[in-house]
Amino acid sequence: MKDIILTGDRPTGKLHLGHYIGSLKNRVELQNSGNYEPYVMIADLQALTDNAHDPDKIRRNLVEVALDYLAVGLDPAKTTIFVQSQIPALSELTMYYMNLVSISRVERNPTVKTEIKQKSFGEGVPTGFVVYPISQAADITAFKAKLVPVGDDQLPMIEQTREIVRSFNATYQTDCLVEPEAMLPPAGLSRRLPGIDGNAKMSKSLNNGIYLSDDEATLRQKVMSMYTDPGHIHVNDPGKVEGNTVFEYLDVFAEDQNYVAQLKENYTAGGLGDVKVKQYLFGVLNDLLTPIRTRRHELAQDLPAVYNMLLAGSQRANEVAARTLTEVRDAIGLNYFDDAKSANSVQEDVL
Ligand code: TRP
Repeated sequence: MKDIILTGDRPTGKLHLGHYIGSLKNRVELQNSGNYEPYVMIADLQALTDNAHDPDKIRRNLVEVALDYLAVGLDPAKTTIFVQSQIPALSELTMYYMNLVSISRVERNPTVKTEIKQKSFGEGVPTGFVVYPISQAADITAFKAKLVPVGDDQLPMIEQTREIVRSFNATYQTDCLVEPEAMLPPAGLSRRLPGIDGNAKMSKSLNNGIYLSDDEATLRQKVMSMYTDPGHIHVNDPGKVEGNTVFEYLDVFAEDQNYVAQLKENYTAGGLGDVKVKQYLFGVLNDLLTPIRTRRHELAQDLPAVYNMLLAGSQRANEVAARTLTEVRDAIGLNYFDDAKSANSVQEDVL
């Protein structure tokens, strides 16, 4: 049997170059290797944990994320693409797992802690937000995923999932849940692509991202506004390559690294202007993004087809998750009505 892979994204915005290089590209390669059974989930329930009052944002972005997936080459014939909220078993599993995790344990999750600091929840931190790693454990275990391709910010989620699996299997004397492993992005690729403003993270809220859906003019304008070396004022000034976002992108995206090395040498020596380097980067990114953008545009002409794809994927995912749920309920002993044995087994105690 092929190893099962599961990963996903919260539908809170369109996907950007950081998503592409950090995960989407790899997902397509894993899919096309034929060595795995891949699942990709749009995590709308998880997105609701900090957007409960803005469900419309999630509705809108669900289809944007689906378009991004298809445009980069995820193929519904090879990857089951599905929507988290359409799989009721995930919510039920979360209920069972919550009883196996202490409050202090959920409060210790470093990624959740950081997010709580960043998000400034006005009305207090929603309970659902604090426990979303438990719901994520349900996502992963429902499909018996062995591998979870994620960025390193997600390692605490995988660790928590592993603890839940061990605790569940030990408590209910079963082996029905599978302990997953994180699959980090291939070495050499930056784990996190900086924003065009040089900020360490490309993010919607910072408005510093290059989106897979950006048109050519927008892409050009964004590249031309990228953060470089603030000390590189005149063309003949020696420029700095470290911390220069344009060169950081070239390291990641340019195929001709010999040429990049040459550019770096000229830039450092002085005499190479930012505009020239940016024009080169624009070409590199535009070559990458043009086919994605074109395909995305085509797919967007027929949204009912996109929704049908999500529906079919969700139906398939539902069957798999429902099977795991049955095993879980059996292991706990909630199968009261399966046969007369249940009644017989307590008959003496009751009398
Ligand atoms: N937490 C992930 C993120 O923010 C999204 C996610 C939800 C996920 N469920 C998952 C990722 C299960 C991997 C496996 O990106």
